Amino acid sequence: MTRDSGSLWPDTVAPSVEQLAEGITLLRGFCRDEAPALLDAIAEVAALSPFRRMIVPGGHTMSVAMTNVGALGWTTDRTGYRYTARDPMTGNAWPAMPAALLSLAQRAAAAGGFPGFTTNACLINRYAAGARLSLHQDKNERDYAHPIVSVSLGLPATFLLGTLHRTDTPRRIRIEHGDVLVWGGPARLVYHGVAPIRQGTHPLTGESRFNLTFRRAVL
Ligand code: SIN
Ligand code: FE2
Repeated sequence: MTRDSGSLWPDTVAPSVEQLAEGITLLRGFCRDEAPALLDAIAEVAALSPFRRMIVPGGHTMSVAMTNVGALGWTTDRTGYRYTARDPMTGNAWPAMPAALLSLAQRAAAAGGFPGFTTNACLINRYAAGARLSLHQDKNERDYAHPIVSVSLGLPATFLLGTLHRTDTPRRIRIEHGDVLVWGGPARLVYHGVAPIRQGTHPLTGESRFNLTFRRAVL
């Protein structure tokens, strides 16, 4: 009997917890069951604050399309990176954080060793084939006492996990639909990025990958 592995999504493996380094935990399959509800929540957010490709201070347009949900949202334009209470594109407050997202962020943070996470900001990234995120630190939050909770949905990605030093070669970690990566404490300011997304079709998201990055930020 031949096994058609090409038709099996690797995200059918059992959930597991992998400690990647001190303060960094990969929760494989953690939110796979709730993924359809998360994708519905993303669609509702995007109807109010649409995905858009932002401009970085150097002048180039990011390949990843972004929006935000929660009291504060991360944005960039030619003048710099910052958190804002309003969506600069619509002039309205960012959409309120749905309970399903708050709950996931808290459960995942606790599973990663950070109980009591109270997120007030969630960046939503949408990647098409070829989109990537170069190595960076999440450091516009101004409060590093809280972890980062990073949720992956749809097409798989190669996550680039660096260290606290930009010049160290990052580890390449394959992350799948339903995986949640949590980093904080001594690892809160690790460099990280995403290698160019490979073309594909996911049963729930089509030709896209979505990432939810929950944080606690201060204006
Ligand atoms: C980010 O660092 O903002 C996103 C990471 C990811 O898409 O997995
Ligand atoms: Fe980041």
